[in-house]
Amino acid sequence: SGLFPVVFNLARRAKITANATCGERGPEQYCRLVEHVKRQYGETAGLQCSVCAEGNHPIENAIDGTRSWWQSPSIAQGFKYHSVTVTLDLQQASKAISV
Ligand SMILES: *[C@@H]1O[C@H](CO)[C@@H](O)[C@H](O)[C@H]1NC(C)=O
Repeated sequence: SGLFPVVFNLARRAKITANATCGERGPEQYCRLVEHVKRQYGETAGLQCSVCAEGNHPIENAIDGTRSWWQSPSIAQGFKYHSVTVTLDLQQASKAISV
C-alpha cells in the first residue's frame, strides 16, 4: 500500500507463443554454462548439458509462475535459431519481445 502498488502477475491470463522451442523436431541436446564455475575454471568448464524432447520446456513454462522454463533450440540446430520471437498476448494490451 502507500507508494507501492500491489504486485501482480500481468502475464497470468496471457497467451504466449514462440516460433521455435527446443525439442519440437525431435530430441535435442542443449548446454548451459554455470556462471560461477565458468568464472573460476574458464569458458568450457561447468558446461551443463541435457536433452530436451517435445513438450519438455514449452513456452507456457515462461509464465506459469513455477521454476520451470522455456528452452529455445540451440543454434547448433541451425543459425536460424539465432532469432526466436516470443509473443505475449496480454489480451488487453500486447507486447512482443525478441530473445
Ligand atoms: C521467428 O519469427 C521472427 C519474426 O518473424 C523471425 O525473424 C525469426 O527468424 C523467426 N525464427 C524462427 C526460428 O523461425
